[in-house]
Amino acid sequence: MTPPALVIAIDGPSGAGKGTVARTVAARLDYRHIDTGAMYRAVAWQARHEGVDLHDAAAVAAVARRAVLSLDPRIVIDGSDVTDAIRTPAIDEAAAIVAQHPPVRAALVERQRQYGAVGGVVMEGRDIGSVVFPCADVKVYLDAEPEERARRRSHDAAHAAGRGQESTARVAEALEARDEADRTRRVSPLRRADDAAYIDTTSLTIDEVVARVMALVEATRGREASVATRSAR
Ligand code: DC
Repeated sequence: MTPPALVIAIDGPSGAGKGTVARTVAARLDYRHIDTGAMYRAVAWQARHEGVDLHDAAAVAAVARRAVLSLDPRIVIDGSDVTDAIRTPAIDEAAAIVAQHPPVRAALVERQRQYGAVGGVVMEGRDIGSVVFPCADVKVYLDAEPEERARRRSHDAAHAAGRGQESTARVAEALEARDEADRTRRVSPLRRADDAAYIDTTSLTIDEVVARVMALVEATRGREASVATRSAR
């Protein structure tokens, strides 16, 4: 019997390891990996590119609704490949601003639900298990100590562009400020869904975190298979 195509939600703050873990789990399962942070970043990039005021919620939401966006594997918005361009301090800030606008979130959440509608996805973000897919088959909340998250972010090659010799302390400060904005924003703040498995990745390797997530996936598959067998009887 083909295993069911699950929706796997991975949430948590920056530098908790979501990206690498989500990508690896998706590759193991042959699922799609959707990085929803990249969606907010791409919209922020496009809004700036068009000269749209980032504080104008309706104008940015219009960009989010209208833009042609593809995520697999390069991030392309309205024909521009922004895979590298969205990993700069300027876009860190711009994305945090646009992510606070309810109509922007509504537009992107709708796209995210479409991507996940048929299952077979590992979706990472801040509100996937709490808002986008409250009924996700597997929900994981990854976290790590702030110093460790800043250390990882400052060593992350994908985020090297435009950062120059920025110190870990400076990265830590910026990260903490954005996390605080994510946690305290009115709409869909970063929070752990009550039924999400909490994994502190501070002293774990990527392989160890992946193994824990895969164990949750296998447990869910086992449960769903036995329900299917029972109801087929
Ligand atoms: O994960 P990231 O740093 O690439 O996310 C970029 C920004 O988008 C960050 O400010 C958090 C925000 N975000 C969000 O509000 N909801 C999501 N599902 C994903 C990201």
